[in-house]
Amino acid sequence: MYRSHNCGELNASHINTEVTLAGWVQKSRDKGFMSWVDLRDRYGITQLIFDSERTDGKVFEKARSLGREFVIQVRGKVIERESKNPNMATGDIEILVSELNVLNEALLPPFTIEDETDGGEELRMKYRYIDIRRNPVKNSLLFRHKVAMEVRKYLSAQDFCEVETPYLIKSTPEGARDFVVPSRMNPGQFYALPQSPQTFKQLLMVGGMDKYFQIVKCFRDEDLRADRQPEFTQIDCEMAFVEQEDILDTFEGLTRHLLKEIKGVDVEKFPRMTYDHAMKTYGNDKPDIRFKMEFGELNQVAQHKEFSVFNAAELVVGIAAPNCGEMTRKEIDALIEWVKRPQIGASGMVYVKCNADGTFKSSVDKFYDQDDLQKWAEATQAKAGDMIFILSGNANKTRTQLSALRMELATRLGLRKPDEFAPLWVVDFPLLEFDEESGRYHAMHHPFTSPKPEDMSLLETNPGKVRANAYDMVLNGNEIGGGSIRIHDKETQALMFKYLGFTEEEARNQFGFLMDAFQFGAPPHGGLAFGLDRLVAILGGQETIRDFIAFPKNNSGRDVMIDAPSNINPVQLNELQIKLDLKL
Ligand code: AMO
Repeated sequence: MYRSHNCGELNASHINTEVTLAGWVQKSRDKGFMSWVDLRDRYGITQLIFDSERTDGKVFEKARSLGREFVIQVRGKVIERESKNPNMATGDIEILVSELNVLNEALLPPFTIEDETDGGEELRMKYRYIDIRRNPVKNSLLFRHKVAMEVRKYLSAQDFCEVETPYLIKSTPEGARDFVVPSRMNPGQFYALPQSPQTFKQLLMVGGMDKYFQIVKCFRDEDLRADRQPEFTQIDCEMAFVEQEDILDTFEGLTRHLLKEIKGVDVEKFPRMTYDHAMKTYGNDKPDIRFKMEFGELNQVAQHKEFSVFNAAELVVGIAAPNCGEMTRKEIDALIEWVKRPQIGASGMVYVKCNADGTFKSSVDKFYDQDDLQKWAEATQAKAGDMIFILSGNANKTRTQLSALRMELATRLGLRKPDEFAPLWVVDFPLLEFDEESGRYHAMHHPFTSPKPEDMSLLETNPGKVRANAYDMVLNGNEIGGGSIRIHDKETQALMFKYLGFTEEEARNQFGFLMDAFQFGAPPHGGLAFGLDRLVAILGGQETIRDFIAFPKNNSGRDVMIDAPSNINPVQLNELQIKLDLKL
């Protein structure tokens, strides 16, 4: 038996017990006649004591030669500590060691195994197995496990059945590029790794499974960001014989359960907002509603004077930054430079200071009087002491720019509190979105999403205006899940493919199996998928999902620990009958 207890469980009630522990040497202190070793495992740290009087001479000497991260096993007696440490679960006791086995020596770790480490990101990724020994990473993985367990518990209790779907499939379009896998037995042919199990879960509904879920890996070859990984995990769900309301109810229930069980937070009914309202009020389809700073449109009250910048704009829109009226000229200029950076792309910014006495001071006082500025303050719901920031130009672009400014200001003002949770449903997404590059409409969600029946007639005349039975769940400004009611009849699905620019033959080749299935008794169905990595990160008070993934990829999609992707052996290429002709 390697151990009788773990390193986090011994306390005063164990005094005088003989125990065996195993773990890693966190650190040691040597006072000549006495030495202490902090022994660490997943569960905590226990102090070991070796003293020249009570410990066997050989064991005492061996203890002094231990290096950091050596793997050891000790036997000894639990004794009361002389100087107790109330900050440690095991702080009342220590182990007077009688036997010491070095199970494995260790090289000096490339960074310190402390909560605040001296290791940079790349180094920690290269030695991720060492990084996982640190509390923040270890705790994130344990936290992820807890969330996943609660999900399984809740959904199973609601009769959902977890079914595994294949990874070697044919393209399932979710708007990204596919990762592909060559097939040795079918030379020249490739599988695609699933961007999601979308079509399979629909086929499971045709198969009568009724309520399906799966905690499942998805693969998308897309540009990476803090909240995106090329392989990530979904809590993928589908239900038969449901309307949108049933789905919203069910998964609001799941999210409420998680907030309660994991964070101890009670949330009443989740607010709902249409996509149009979100875009108009927050410039964003995933608004953070923990704080207000809602957009005030100013066209009506700002385009009647000689200020040509506003007069020429499609949209003039502002937000009030709370209690920012005392910002210095230098701070304002820095913020103007911030919105003018290419990543944001504004051409300039107008500001209005709302003085405590109810007067205003603006950067466009030359053109506008106090009455005008009063109206701007009303439209942006600004109070005395606030500062209004105004952008103008093309409507869509300006909204996106102001949204970025809103989030930046909120971050700087500490309004995005990680321990506050504000979930939200965004509903009535457009069915299609126009892609300037290809000059075509694309499915905003995916091609299996059903249009709202009352908007069907617009498909011919005004496709951009057709709304879908599609919804996203947003938590603290992040899209944590999305789904839709599906098309379940062959005719509508064929029509949809036609509108998306597929020829009949292309639709048949790619999705013939689904349209065939729809002819064999497909029930009405719908579902959604949560991004588990995102959900866990946000519940954990963070937005970078990498920290909640055991072995994540870096920003260029590389695993720097195992060095992947990498070249493959020419023999393997030969077997696959693939000849590389790289134009690097
Ligand atoms: P969607 O594409 O919206 O929907 O994905 C669902 C959720 O998955 C998460 N997500 C990601 N997380 C990390 N890295 C990524 N690269 C990444 N891409 C997406 C997001 C997102 O909300 N089949 C549909 C669901 C359905 O219709 O039922 C789908 O995949 O949190």
